[in-house]
Amino acid sequence: MNLVLLGPPGAGKGTQGDLLSERCEIPKYATGDILRDAVSRGTPLGREAKRFMDAGELVPDAVMMGVAREALHAPAARKGFLLDGFPRTVAQAEGLAELLEERQAKLDAVVYFAVPEPELVRRLSGRRVCNACGAIYNLAAGGLQGAIDSCGACGGQLEIRDDDRPETVRNRLRVYRESTEPLLEWYRESAVTLLQLDAVGTVEEVQKKLEDLVGCC
Ligand code: AP5
Repeated sequence: MNLVLLGPPGAGKGTQGDLLSERCEIPKYATGDILRDAVSRGTPLGREAKRFMDAGELVPDAVMMGVAREALHAPAARKGFLLDGFPRTVAQAEGLAELLEERQAKLDAVVYFAVPEPELVRRLSGRRVCNACGAIYNLAAGGLQGAIDSCGACGGQLEIRDDDRPETVRNRLRVYRESTEPLLEWYRESAVTLLQLDAVGTVEEVQKKLEDLVGCC
């Protein structure tokens, strides 16, 4: 199964991508995670991407095509893949189509995560990330059991992701509307199947809806 998970910031692409990746035993390539890892290691990619990420802007298409090419050329991607956060512009979607053609592969579907904006803001402002093990929590979704500043898994400190601060969230949502939302029309007019997921509800409820939508692995 080769899928793209498309949707606004905070729609739950990462959360559901991890669950689907585990169930179907196929790798998930999340460009945001790849970039954050590069930033934390101080690589040339990380140094180039950081200022765009901090501002809630998109990293340039040419840079992102390099990231996608490397991910999709990994041997593990041969048996299927989930792309989370890529493509994000029409130019990236065109680049992905070429990349897949080179590999004689194709997308089975693009899954669009539909979530109203107030819920996106609620999820992003409530996200907390463990600075030791990377576990992700949400104040709004519960599960922290009173300890709102330490990780239930390892005791590490919970922090707000740099780009989840209100002013950056506003810009990420604007950038999404301007640069990424047009992809819905682009895919509607392409040969690729576009599936719409109602991504509102608990994580478990959305997981069930996603499984019903994409079917068996
Ligand atoms: P990236 O990390 O991809 O950010 P994003 O798309 O804005 O994604 P998020 O992680 O905010 O949202 P998500 O939909 O994955 O939701 P999640 O499951 O985490 O990108 C970061 C930056 O990198 C970009 O701004 C850009 O600068 C750059 N970048 C990355 N890819 C790029 C590209 N292709 N081109 C150019 N630049 C690129 O959930 C969010 C929160 O909600 C969590 O706390 C979670 O626990 C909670 N949650 C999840 N599901 C539910 C639910 N059902 N109910 C309640 N809470 C929930």
